[in-house]
Amino acid sequence: MRVGILTGGGDCPGLNAVIRGVVRTGIRRYDHEHVGIRHGWRGLFERDVIPLDQDRVSGILPLGGTMLRSSRTNPYSRDGGPEEVLAAAKDLGIDALVAIGGEDTLGVADKLYKDYAFPVVGVPKTIDNDLSGTDVTFGFWTAVQIAVDAIDRLHTTADSHDRIIVVEVMGRHAGWIALESGIAGGAHVILLPERPTTVDRVAELLNQRLERGKEFAIVVVSEGVQFEGTSSSADDLDEFGHVKLADAGVATFLADRLKTMTGKDCRAVVLGHIQRGGSPLAFDRSLATRFGVHAAEMVAGGLFGRMAAVRGADILDVPLAEAVGTLKTVPPERFEEKNPFIG
Ligand code: F6P
Repeated sequence: MRVGILTGGGDCPGLNAVIRGVVRTGIRRYDHEHVGIRHGWRGLFERDVIPLDQDRVSGILPLGGTMLRSSRTNPYSRDGGPEEVLAAAKDLGIDALVAIGGEDTLGVADKLYKDYAFPVVGVPKTIDNDLSGTDVTFGFWTAVQIAVDAIDRLHTTADSHDRIIVVEVMGRHAGWIALESGIAGGAHVILLPERPTTVDRVAELLNQRLERGKEFAIVVVSEGVQFEGTSSSADDLDEFGHVKLADAGVATFLADRLKTMTGKDCRAVVLGHIQRGGSPLAFDRSLATRFGVHAAEMVAGGLFGRMAAVRGADILDVPLAEAVGTLKTVPPERFEEKNPFIG
């Protein structure tokens, strides 16, 4: 059997560990052959593939990024795109595909499976941790740790200069990174897209802290938070129709307003792609490897139209449709748990 592997969407620490897990398991247990498709779905259009054998995946476990490269190409946004994917798979002799990605990449995989019975299995990837059907996605805890390390450093400089520092973290639709990094980093205010608030309320919380004699503060805000007055430029969309939020700059907007409302020197720090880069934490290396092994088992077992997932300590698989139907956002009980810290 010849198995294609692709990585789509934003990169994420642990992608290489998944690729290695699929290839090693496929070769050692099932005598599968593997081809890596470069740049996500785009690689199928361009017939841009590389052979993957045990040597080629040796040493990649701790590496960040993806050896296969990635793109946000959406076959369903092009005329005849899905049919071209099928034709490419046929030309390249691909009998089954492992698609490693988030809601967009797995959404395409789900449609290809439903529309054409395309033999595809999914592996859930996103630092945002917003995929349903799995307790967690690999890469998330690495991104949280990177944000916490930054918040720790910002504490000392904010304290030294009596400043308010607004730290913007990733999380387009879900505030998981803001929530966990804000809690673990000891932020004084945490702002999530799931919980609408106002700049007045943020200023009130900060002023209460200043009135208690504190002279600095850290605000963690998810990039997906919108306030009246913030704008996202609708002409800068990717092929899946997402606004490129990192450029919208909610932290800058907020820091600017808070300056007059608190009387403090307020600065904005946008962590951006730093959160996606570099080596995965041990937890993410282990989870990604287990997902890769399971994906190879799914291919061997013909479990197509499904995605590897983790529930508690167990790796299992769920229908792709379950993963892409609704986004997993932060539930209200999680804000309530941390009520005093959330704006
Ligand atoms: O979906 C993951 C993610 O990192 C989001 O948190 C972020 O909004 C987006 O990707 C950024 O994507 P890009 O690198 O394509 O601008």
